[in-house]
Amino acid sequence: MIPQHDIPAQLANLADRKRSKRKLVALTAYDYPSARLLDEAGVDVILVGDSLGMVVLGYEDTTFVTLEEMEHHTRACRRGVSQALLVGDLPFQTYESPEQAVASARRLVKAGAEMVKLEGGSEKAGEVAAIVAEGIPVMGHIGMLPQQVREEGGYKKKGKTSADAERLLEDAAALVQAGVSAMVLESMVAGVSVEITRNVPVPTIGIGAGEGCDGQILVLHDLIGGFPWFRPVLAMQHGDVAGVITRAVNAYAKVVRGE
Ligand code: KIV
Repeated sequence: MIPQHDIPAQLANLADRKRSKRKLVALTAYDYPSARLLDEAGVDVILVGDSLGMVVLGYEDTTFVTLEEMEHHTRACRRGVSQALLVGDLPFQTYESPEQAVASARRLVKAGAEMVKLEGGSEKAGEVAAIVAEGIPVMGHIGMLPQQVREEGGYKKKGKTSADAERLLEDAAALVQAGVSAMVLESMVAGVSVEITRNVPVPTIGIGAGEGCDGQILVLHDLIGGFPWFRPVLAMQHGDVAGVITRAVNAYAKVVRGE
């Protein structure tokens, strides 16, 4: 098993950040240069997200991503990260039982992850507890779950009814009980994420869940404009990498063609 960092110190830092209310800055990365740039910029948490299925590998959604692909990209990111907490995302159908979850989590840790993330609430408490019992920290993920996109027929905001909000609060509590060290709250009504953040002792990291979480995460390509064919409404864009590449390629082509 890896540990390149002092994991207990990383976890203590996460807990401190909840206490101190200094917001956690989290982003995804999928390769060495992006991970290193984020690390050097002082990002707190770097997630090798299975969103790489769309923004790097060109799949339609995250359900096509394999554990082998996640290991490959986690290894690349590991080489670029020396400060941030590096989290590896368990892909679709690789944590269907506690035994499978532990085996998959071990592989991501071997590839360099210091924490693994998985999607789901109460129904995944057994898998979370089994991974935690192995000494591997877990980040939960509730709200809109991209790995359920085909089952749900789209990406839908959560917590709109009081029953749904109640279920999200129960899911958050079940994840805490199972031992998560942090949790992502994706695409949910802002009031619900505030309520969860108030109720759980671990940091909440929001995406499309309002400003009341303990931190925020974004898909790097959405932030930097690196995937112009699809921009989720919840994304904040502060760059135009696609434009930079296109302009550089056009300039190069002109030079080569003598135009
Ligand atoms: O895969 C991913 O990038 C994620 C984030 C959106 C939280 O799960």
